[in-house]
Amino acid sequence: MSLWKKHEIFEKKSFVLLVGIVIVIAIGGLVEIVPLFYLKSTIEKVEGMRPYTPLELAGRNVYIREGCYLCHSQMIRPMRDEIERYGHFSLAAESMYDHPFQWGSKRTGPDLARVGGKYSDEWHHDHLVDPRSVVPESIMPGYPFLTGERVEDREIAAHLEANVVAGVPYTEEQIKNARLDLRAQADPEGDDVDAFLERYPNAIVRDFDGNPGEVTEMDALIAYLQMLGTLVDFSIYDDKANLR
Ligand code: HEC
Repeated sequence: MSLWKKHEIFEKKSFVLLVGIVIVIAIGGLVEIVPLFYLKSTIEKVEGMRPYTPLELAGRNVYIREGCYLCHSQMIRPMRDEIERYGHFSLAAESMYDHPFQWGSKRTGPDLARVGGKYSDEWHHDHLVDPRSVVPESIMPGYPFLTGERVEDREIAAHLEANVVAGVPYTEEQIKNARLDLRAQADPEGDDVDAFLERYPNAIVRDFDGNPGEVTEMDALIAYLQMLGTLVDFSIYDDKANLR
């Protein structure tokens, strides 16, 4: 019997063909996925990465709630045009504490993976309140209400705990002091700054929204935006790997 004849059974019986397709695709999938379970590190560790501070995490929650990811990606692809525009391509480790990740799939606006430090806090404040006041041709919607909303901090410790379940290494102490730390980061004059910086060594402490009276959602969102992409010092890695 020729090979062609044996193949006839797949051609004539659609269910057998279906089972055949599933088996072949399963093998392909296993070949791709199984090795990842045996690699010592699927995500290469890089220096500088730390979990989000409570204020940044609160800002990230605002980012997700407002759907910023619908217009903004947070992943710079390893292609020359992207690297020239946005900076070093994103590393897997840079999203290791992101639950859920914010890679995004649409760029109505620019990628934000390395927007931290690119603009001043005032620029972000004005841009979020009324984008066209700083970028006249912008089509981004304004979020002026963020300046008036006190950030919801009563449940921030629970947010940290939820991240621990997903594998983020927050310590007992960080969880216990979450609410204190959230306020400390937006209050450079306060008494708790030193303790906060001990728990989150390379965090930025500033009154992000220019309103020292209270910690608003604007404070939280700007704190989050200003740290994006700033944790890893690429001068260490590029010399070694010559990645660019
Ligand atoms: C409808 C799509 C849309 C949504 C939703 C949106 N943006 Fe934008 N965003 C844009 C566009 C377009 C630009 C480019 C023009 C400009 O700078 O305003 C932009 C620019 C930006 C920039 C400046 C980036 C740079 O490198 O110049 C930041 C920061 C930003 N957006 C943050 C946010 C945040 C935070 C949210 C959610 C609260 C958000 N955006 C929601 C469309 C959007």
